[in-house]
Amino acid sequence: MRLLVTGGAGFIGSTFARSILSREDATEVLVLDALTYAGNLENLEPVARRPGFEFLRADIRDAQAVRESFQLFRPDVVVHFAAESHVDRSILSPTDCVATNTQGTAVLLEAARQYPPRLFVHVSTDEVYGSIDAPGVADEASPLRPSSPYSASKAGSDLLALAYAETFSLPVIVTRASNNYGPYQFPEKLIPLMIANALDDVPLPVYGDGMQVRDWLHVEDHCRAITVLIEQGRPGEIYNVGGNCPLPNIEVVRRILRLCDRPEALIEHVPDRPAHDRRYALTSAKLQAESEWRPAWQFDEGLRETIRWYRRNPGWVERVRSGEYLRYYNRNYSGRGAAMAR
Ligand code: NAD
Ligand code: TYD
Repeated sequence: MRLLVTGGAGFIGSTFARSILSREDATEVLVLDALTYAGNLENLEPVARRPGFEFLRADIRDAQAVRESFQLFRPDVVVHFAAESHVDRSILSPTDCVATNTQGTAVLLEAARQYPPRLFVHVSTDEVYGSIDAPGVADEASPLRPSSPYSASKAGSDLLALAYAETFSLPVIVTRASNNYGPYQFPEKLIPLMIANALDDVPLPVYGDGMQVRDWLHVEDHCRAITVLIEQGRPGEIYNVGGNCPLPNIEVVRRILRLCDRPEALIEHVPDRPAHDRRYALTSAKLQAESEWRPAWQFDEGLRETIRWYRRNPGWVERVRSGEYLRYYNRNYSGRGAAMAR
């Protein structure tokens, strides 16, 4: 199988690429990634020398580069992760978010229309459903009520992908996953930021009262769901992927402090995020009815392992924060299309 993975140098995309390339029936994988602040080739080091792995530095907004990558690589399956993925950054810079998440997805869909893959998996988020009042849960038919530029740009891209399925019979699957956590997550999202701060003994900034609820999904469970959908998913369909682990933020932060052996006094309540969604909740009943997939990670175990990974990799945190790895790449492998050193 020839697999084009956009955003494969980021958190979830690199976990997916590492996992798929580690399997026996090694697939050919082309990671296409612009290497923004969130993309880091170090995340792909464990598989960089595997036969079948290629890397292309390209921006999904660049129609020519994207078209050429489809033309040359001719993917059987596209898994589209590339995005500006952080809500706070989308509030600071909404148009960047729309340009990559919505316009960039349109560019990819156009290339896929010209060189149709067997399947185009558009990786999206439960945030498109907006805040859900308890005890409700969103299923795939729930209305889209995005409240941040990030979630609105993702909702726009979901609708485009589904429109390409209808209009051009492009075999598209849209996945909507809940909040992911695990190793290699950029320390701007709640869990890695709180772990990094706790380990550095600096305050942990909790927005507002910290009673906002998120459903936590281990990144490996998410990636396994995508693999299952590549094999068994029905084109044209949307699939929710949830961790079945709803927790208020403050509880997550307290557990991190306990596991890091740090005092709760490090918690600092800071002003709330604008339009902060109070509660995300979704059901993955459809995916579970159509496959054997279930989330395998228990949250406490996943959190303990994640903390262990951050403890063992302080250099990674330092490098992604400083952009050092990116500067190294630019010095040594600059230029569009440069392949990663093998
Ligand atoms: P991330 O920010 O860690 O990685 C994003 C990757 O996309 C980076 O490697 C970055 O370099 C690349 N990228 C950004 N703009 C690009 C562009 N214009 N062209 C090419 N590459 C570009 O994100 P993540 O957390 O791994 O999320 C991956 C996908 O999963 C996103 O589409 C996101 O919306 C979705 N998602 C994330 C979560 C979560 O909790 N993190 C949950 C559900 C869905
Ligand atoms: P985040 O990881 O940014 O994901 P999302 O906004 O996509 O759900 O945030 C998760 C939750 O944690 C969200 O309710 C916002 C909150 N949060 C904080 O309280 N403090 C922080 O410093 C961050 C980054 C997030």
